[in-house]
Amino acid sequence: KEVVFSAIQPSGTITLGNYLGAVRNWVTMQNEYDCIYALADLHTITVRQTPAVMRKNIIDAYASIMACGIDVEKSLFFIQSHVHTHAELAWALSCYTQFGELSRMTQFKDKSAKHADNINAGLFTYPVLMAADILLYQADKVPVGADQKQHIEITRNIAERFNGIYGNVFKIPDGFIPKNGARVMSLQDPTRKMSKSDENVNGCVHLLDTPEVIMKKFKRAVTDSEAKVRYAEGKDGVNNLMAIYSAVTGLSYEQIEKDFDGKGYGDFKTAVGEAVVEELRPIRERYEKLVADKAYLESCYRKADEIALKISSRTMGKVMKKIGFI
Ligand code: TYM
Repeated sequence: KEVVFSAIQPSGTITLGNYLGAVRNWVTMQNEYDCIYALADLHTITVRQTPAVMRKNIIDAYASIMACGIDVEKSLFFIQSHVHTHAELAWALSCYTQFGELSRMTQFKDKSAKHADNINAGLFTYPVLMAADILLYQADKVPVGADQKQHIEITRNIAERFNGIYGNVFKIPDGFIPKNGARVMSLQDPTRKMSKSDENVNGCVHLLDTPEVIMKKFKRAVTDSEAKVRYAEGKDGVNNLMAIYSAVTGLSYEQIEKDFDGKGYGDFKTAVGEAVVEELRPIRERYEKLVADKAYLESCYRKADEIALKISSRTMGKVMKKIGFI
């Protein structure tokens, strides 16, 4: 079976964007692949965290992702900081990564503009740690949203460079980006991606929002003055709602346009909101049960951490030997 690897930062609550862009595919891929997933908590400290909040976020994110349908009997779901090979391989690979190529990463440019008071070295080398995550498990496919495309590209470049020097050490991974939902935009500013750190709370739908809150956010979503449900350039708000609706219901854009022909945006927003509410309802219910059982959650990640260490140590050992460490 091919190996799938992906990870998510536990830097706040999981969003509808995370779910439609990535986590939903993590769930479906479990039946076909050997799946390995991680909470990328080492990546999270590239932005300053409050310790108590960070501890809570990690547990909440672990429970949320499990609630989405990750089956720990089928897949590995571990915590990155518990598996020391990640930081080790990141260091080694950083010596095979050029300053220039990291400087071209658009996420680094965006984040350093946003956190101008804390442009730390970890923020800069962030893609190297991500490459280490993926390459340690010899992953074939990496299910992510469109915003991670450049990071997958640099992972491939680093791996090819390393293989070019030492022979075939790493499998070259492919990104797996969904046709629908790869780039969910803010409901308040549909030219920007939906993000946990949106200043406008109405722009971002969280996985654990109540049905009332979800409906309110969709009803307030920014649209345009044409009052016609159709997918077209310049209709960013409507395009985004159509993309979300299509991702959740499986309906094509043509079908959606037909179904809402002659109807106003009010009806459409209500339909999108209701579809999202129904998609997220079982997740929130499972989350409530899971998060109440901390001992069970701990037993799940301890078991996965141990297996992840075993698997990743094989690659790490090979890397050390190839480089020339004794
Ligand atoms: P993170 O935590 O920002 O996001 C997790 C996943 O959600 C996707 N995503 C979106 N998809 C669609 N629309 C959006 N608005 C949206 N926002 C986020 C992301 O593309 C991602 O797939 N660097 C990664 C975490 C990571 C990782 C890895 C991923 C660490 N190591 C190894 C893959 C493989 C990140 O910050 O994702």
